[in-house]
Amino acid sequence: MSASSRTVPQEQLPSEDLHPRPMPVINLGHLSLDSRTRSGVVNEIAKACRDLGYFQVINHGISQAVMDRAVEAASSFFKLPSETKEEYSSDDLRQPVRYDTSSKDSISMSRAFLKHYAHPLSDWIQYWPQKPPIYRECMGRYAVEIRRVALLLMEAVLEGLGLNKDYLQEKFQEGLQLLSVNSYPKVSHGATTIGLAPHSDYGFLTILLTSCQGLEVLDRSSNSWKTVQQLPHALHVHIGDHMEVLSNGQIKTAIHRALLNPEEARISIASIHGFALHEKVACAKELVDEENPQKYKESSFSDFLDHLTANMDNKQRNFLESL
Ligand code: SIN
Ligand code: FE2
Repeated sequence: MSASSRTVPQEQLPSEDLHPRPMPVINLGHLSLDSRTRSGVVNEIAKACRDLGYFQVINHGISQAVMDRAVEAASSFFKLPSETKEEYSSDDLRQPVRYDTSSKDSISMSRAFLKHYAHPLSDWIQYWPQKPPIYRECMGRYAVEIRRVALLLMEAVLEGLGLNKDYLQEKFQEGLQLLSVNSYPKVSHGATTIGLAPHSDYGFLTILLTSCQGLEVLDRSSNSWKTVQQLPHALHVHIGDHMEVLSNGQIKTAIHRALLNPEEARISIASIHGFALHEKVACAKELVDEENPQKYKESSFSDFLDHLTANMDNKQRNFLESL
């Protein structure tokens, strides 16, 4: 989640995708149809979670206008003068709102971001930027709607693991939602920078809205980067580290990165969903047995922040490896 932009060593430059395969696209509207259709969709989601930890969703119920206004609010924030944005700068990862750029740890600055909590909205919105004037309203509306989609997806992923769809309901309902709002400049053809280095996200799942192409997902089976084609009105879903832990390794966290787009500047809004700060996530006991011994230690979001703070100089270090 918080890996930061940097100049990419030659061996990590995007290689040509020699065996492109279609990335999974899930029609979320079908989840609310009859039980046979629903279980077909649950199986498609389960397969995507096992293969890549990534899929795209269409027919998710969020209007194009709500999505466009969130992108517009983000874009207007990043156009503000530096002094205004830097009011939110902090090295303390526990601040409720944090603005930063990659200029500190990268030769070429390629990403600026604003991160803030979003659930419950009434607790957090008071800390959000007041400029531009549309920010709180447009981002707040988007945050509430995206959380509804996250709850639906969470139920389907749990069902795909053979667990009850209400398995985590209370803790998930009370859990955190973190919005990570990113701004990437347009880059000239042939430049050797990427916007966001390879990483996986904290939490159970992330729903990502992107204004244009640039996202790539690692296909573990061929060890190659897959370019995600941006479908109209679609949202991207990444399985997060804590979902891999809960599933005891049955499904995988999505390793992904963002390339700079040569055609246009790019905005992305990642909505990350997990348990509350100190609530520990462990492997589901139903998924642990003699043949499948427990693979991970339990951990919380607070442990994740401690891990990041202790590894500030090496942000590529994977949280899962520490469990
Ligand atoms: C993220 O991983 O937080 C953002 C990815 C993107 O901008 O495509
Ligand atoms: Fe991410």
